[in-house]
Amino acid sequence: MEWKVDRQSNKPLYQQVFDFIEQKISYGEFPLGTLLPSERKLAERLNVNRMTIVHVYDKLHAVGLVERKRGSGTRVSTHKWGVLSKGSTNWRRYVEGSTFLPTYPLIKRIREAAKQLENGFDLASGELSSDLFPSQLLQSSLVDESFPNDLSYEHPQGHLGLRETLSAYVKTNYNIKTTSSSILITSGAQQALYLITQCLLSPGDAVAIESPSYCYSLPLFQSAGLRIFGLPVGPNGINPKDIEDLYHKHQIRMVFLNPTYQNPTGTVLTDTRRKEVIEIAERLGIPIVEDDPFGLLSFKEEKHSPIKSFDYNGNVLYIGSLSKVVASGLRIGWLIGPQSVISRLADARQQMDFGLSIFPQLIANQFLQSADYTTHRKALTQELLDRRNTMISALHEILGEKVSFISPNGGLHIWCKINQKISDEKLVEEGIKNNVLFMPGSVYGFPDGYVRFTYARLEKKHIKDAVLRFSDILSRI
Ligand SMILES: Cc1ncc(COP(=O)(O)O)c(C=O)c1O
Repeated sequence: MEWKVDRQSNKPLYQQVFDFIEQKISYGEFPLGTLLPSERKLAERLNVNRMTIVHVYDKLHAVGLVERKRGSGTRVSTHKWGVLSKGSTNWRRYVEGSTFLPTYPLIKRIREAAKQLENGFDLASGELSSDLFPSQLLQSSLVDESFPNDLSYEHPQGHLGLRETLSAYVKTNYNIKTTSSSILITSGAQQALYLITQCLLSPGDAVAIESPSYCYSLPLFQSAGLRIFGLPVGPNGINPKDIEDLYHKHQIRMVFLNPTYQNPTGTVLTDTRRKEVIEIAERLGIPIVEDDPFGLLSFKEEKHSPIKSFDYNGNVLYIGSLSKVVASGLRIGWLIGPQSVISRLADARQQMDFGLSIFPQLIANQFLQSADYTTHRKALTQELLDRRNTMISALHEILGEKVSFISPNGGLHIWCKINQKISDEKLVEEGIKNNVLFMPGSVYGFPDGYVRFTYARLEKKHIKDAVLRFSDILSRI
């Protein structure tokens, strides 16, 4: 819920909330039968006293806008009244009946809390903080780029200029050799994952993903009807032999890996293992999807050659993104693979939305070609390293033996094991109440007792206080 009460207004808080809900009902945004949040939940979300909401619901009930039944909560009244007396569609049946699954409630809860967080600590959102976005430089890229005359639909694979820039970019930075015709520009890495799961696989297909993995947080795998099998991640990433075992046991049809500064563990798959993965993929004929949004965020001189750079037979679909290196709101990602796959996915994406807007593509193209980009990236990794160090020191100093973790050499996250028995849900709720947000391990397909901390979203000066706040709640639950 994005709406907030206005504390400067002369209108009483309960009246503001009442008017807000009444408007939602009369505009049809809360159709007949809609279940309203519980009083406690709504009070938490709007950051008002629970008695305010009790008062609002009483008044809504008194005027007949809502119905209340013991045990089934407060719903928008299904009786005919006023403007809705013509009746309305039972949207709930459509919304809940679709095979496309909603975001997991715990993730939704944390994301909503992050949007409303004021004077709190966000260690949950896997994004850069706003001071790390090169906003000024992007703005001048927009000014420098001459405004396009042709504003018709773009090429189905995306803007040619950006695709050419990206083919040079991946050659320089990753030693991936490709041409513009084998690149599809996507709305972030997320859209690339979506297109692959929806268009290249069928319901019932088995796929392998890392365990833990960012992919577990995406209901899109379940929405596509895929059967998911985990590849345990150790300090050096997955064990390639496990791919072979899963192939023989479950006939897996595709493998999804995030080999560099893996989300959430921060680990890196060694070069030897990368070559083994390619060898297995070639021998068994299983495609590998290499999801690589963090590859350039290295704190050491070390460069990790993507699995794609060892792929001479077109077995790897490589996904890149500017979200973690430039800005997540730009929504620029890309997929590199065999031309037949790229044009199939480009066609599917065209059916969906006729392609990306030209503007972020032009900005990205201009920025990636400028010297500003290199300067930005160096400054960004230096700042991320500083924040990581601050966080590691705070974890040692404040939590000590209560947690175990491996210090990542790049990326945005620290994966922590909590050395006491806890319930993820309880920990998260307590965190939200106390304005410190983090991602529990269960979101990544792991049992309770693990937490992912992102050190990129908070300014360095707040990191120690955030860990203190976390330690405080941990000692209380
Ligand atoms: C491993 C991984 N893949 C894909 C994504 C999606 O990123 P994008 O913003 O490029 O869609 C994320 C976002 O956190 C991620 O961590």
